[in-house]
Amino acid sequence: MSNVAVIGGQWGDEGKGKVVDVLSERFDIVARWQGGPNAGHTVRTAGKSFFLHQVPTGLLRERTMGVLGNGMVLDPAGLLEEIASLEASGFVIRGRLLISHRAHVILPVHRVLDSMAEDAGGGIGTTRRGIGPAYTAKAARLGLRVVDLQDEETIARRITAFMEGGAAAYLRETGREVPDVAAMAAECAAFGRELRAFVADTSVWINERMDAGATVLFEGAQGALLDLDLGTYPYVTSSSAVAAGLGAGVGVGPTRIDAVAGVFKAYATRVGGGPFPTEQKGEAGDLIRERGREYGTTTGRPRRCGWFDGLAARYAATVNGLTSAALTLFDVLDVFDEVPVCVAYRWRGMEIREFPAEPWVLEEAEPVYAMMPGWKSDTSQARRIEELPDNARRYIDRLSELLGCEIGLVSVGPDRAQTILGPGRFFRKILGAEAPKTAPARPAARAAGRPAKTRARS
Ligand code: IMP
Repeated sequence: MSNVAVIGGQWGDEGKGKVVDVLSERFDIVARWQGGPNAGHTVRTAGKSFFLHQVPTGLLRERTMGVLGNGMVLDPAGLLEEIASLEASGFVIRGRLLISHRAHVILPVHRVLDSMAEDAGGGIGTTRRGIGPAYTAKAARLGLRVVDLQDEETIARRITAFMEGGAAAYLRETGREVPDVAAMAAECAAFGRELRAFVADTSVWINERMDAGATVLFEGAQGALLDLDLGTYPYVTSSSAVAAGLGAGVGVGPTRIDAVAGVFKAYATRVGGGPFPTEQKGEAGDLIRERGREYGTTTGRPRRCGWFDGLAARYAATVNGLTSAALTLFDVLDVFDEVPVCVAYRWRGMEIREFPAEPWVLEEAEPVYAMMPGWKSDTSQARRIEELPDNARRYIDRLSELLGCEIGLVSVGPDRAQTILGPGRFFRKILGAEAPKTAPARPAARAAGRPAKTRARS
């Protein structure tokens, strides 16, 4: 398996950072293709936590190269800070990180416009990092790219085009200060000088390296349900978070992707606005939030928490063509007597089994849950799939049925060591681990073919 994409299967924050970190020791290059500082990965290694926003997680492995692809929008100040803080912790970043010269630049004015849109009412709860305005500028051909930062005249021309393309008039009309183009250009030129050593034609570079036999892990940010085309529009981010987006976002052909791994929490969370049928606003949601430390890495916002949504997950698995799935934060569910799993929606007397595009259906949909018996024991110390209680394994099997693909990895805690391989084979194969010596546990009571007992939510 030479080149593997890792994507989020829900609304982001699925724990992709940890999965990428575990896998990345087997890859030569880790490349990001979309988003920017709206992403937030927490990676824990050697008892220390690292919060990464723009730098690929793979850089925490010594021999791995990191690439920030052309499909990204980058905040130069934040990126330089991240590089400096990793270097201060002893990581060598220079010579190991390449930034695409075609990636776009987030300007401070993009952040202002993002916040203004949010504050004006009708916002969707963005991270206020300027992501939407930077991608809007890109699509409107008013963007500033990393390559432009090398030429002061081009910087000034591009920023002027953006400001005169509507931004300055809008700021003036709403009584805001219009930032000075010359000052913005000077700041950008300084960033250009600081970033110069990292900038490359990463598309050509990565293709040449792949031709020479290098392996690539494509690291997704956000999640399939936040994808601009396939997510719960308009409550989405402004880039392509699904696996298919990576070709355009890194500059490689689709023939280069050998497999796609989807990362799912054992439950579900969402930050910001938008429909979330399985959301739990009461005690269960609070317990998940506290046990899962469900507060945003980027904004610190408490995340909305709920049960695993089988329809949404199946949809994400389908549109990404998943080879395998990784299940994270599994131990968070250790305390529940029963764990509900959404297997259908009920809407105006109808039962719905496909994830709908209609926002009004998603807003009103009542989940139909299969009640899975809890396992009520600490799974955080388990290191092999056979060490998990039977009910925990039944839960995993049920999720695998709903996803329509194997589950190849289960994470039971934030540390690298708290990672269980299997029951599926994909991750075991990549990590070169041996197959389990004992036969798999007793078949699940509700294995494929036998429909789960479902009951409507009271
Ligand atoms: P934006 O990407 O900042 O424009 O925000 C658009 C939507 O995506 C908002 O609902 C954000 O909360 C959500 N979002 C963006 N990045 C992430 C992420 O990394 N994790 C979870 N939600 C995110």
